[in-house]
Amino acid sequence: MAFLEIQDLTKSFGGIQAVDHCTFSVEQGSITALIGPNGAGKTTVFNLITGLIKPDSGKVLFEGREITAKKPNQITRAGISRTFQISRDLGEMTVLENLVVQSPTRGFLDLFQGSILNHEYEKAMELLDFVGITRLAHEKAKKLSYGQKKLMEFAAVLMTEPKLVMLDEPAGGVNPALLEDIVARIELLNSRGLTFLIVEHNMDVVMNLCSPVVVMAYGKVIAQGKPQEIQANPIVLEAYLGEG
Ligand SMILES: Nc1ncnc2c1ncn2[C@@H]1O[C@H](COP(=O)(O)OP(=O)(O)OP(=O)(O)O)[C@@H](O)[C@H]1O
Ligand SMILES: [Mg+2]
Repeated sequence: MAFLEIQDLTKSFGGIQAVDHCTFSVEQGSITALIGPNGAGKTTVFNLITGLIKPDSGKVLFEGREITAKKPNQITRAGISRTFQISRDLGEMTVLENLVVQSPTRGFLDLFQGSILNHEYEKAMELLDFVGITRLAHEKAKKLSYGQKKLMEFAAVLMTEPKLVMLDEPAGGVNPALLEDIVARIELLNSRGLTFLIVEHNMDVVMNLCSPVVVMAYGKVIAQGKPQEIQANPIVLEAYLGEG
């Protein structure tokens, strides 16, 4: 039994078959990459796994249990956390608050407590320290640079104490120094047992950080294997060249 199993997932939008009988799995402890040309269906697969949209058919299993019909917050509580390709920060809130709202207990505690709880505050500060932006804790999120926002999102994704972290283009638009930082932190967290599923177009990051690599095109998985195998696979090269 795999940690995360995507079984025969299918999703169409109008006439577009965004995800077409897609099947792959993520092993516990891996840093698995999900790559493919623009429009291949990668973000849609993320949305299906995390319950933002429902598949037309197929299943998602996490730790052997079906999560296909569950709500996003139930999936988060099961141990899956993600970032978004397009930043979804709450600009008027501080960086610290952006982290605290991720806390799975938050909605319930809001009923009788308005202030930030001590343990949530401590966890958020610890994570801001982990990504190196403690000094920005009380800044409004909208004042952050693009790179700082990426770090905030990376910290926020860890607030729910996930078992599986899904990152949608963590390297997108990030400068080389920051990229090195992010990669080092992913490696550190992975060495402590955290599993990653990463959508990424930066092939240096994919080839150096991830294994296995799953390749999608036109909603289907067209190849999977070790980075070296994927790099040498003619089907993969053709899919990327066909992109135009
Ligand atoms: N909500 C939606 N409504 C209509 N079409 C959609 C919707 N979401 C995705 N699509 C379409 O589904 C296909 C797959 O899109 P998706 O965003 O999953 O690709 P992707 O692999 O993440 O691409 P990229 O690398 O550019 O981020 C595309 O043709 C896209 O236009
Ligand atoms: Mg995408």
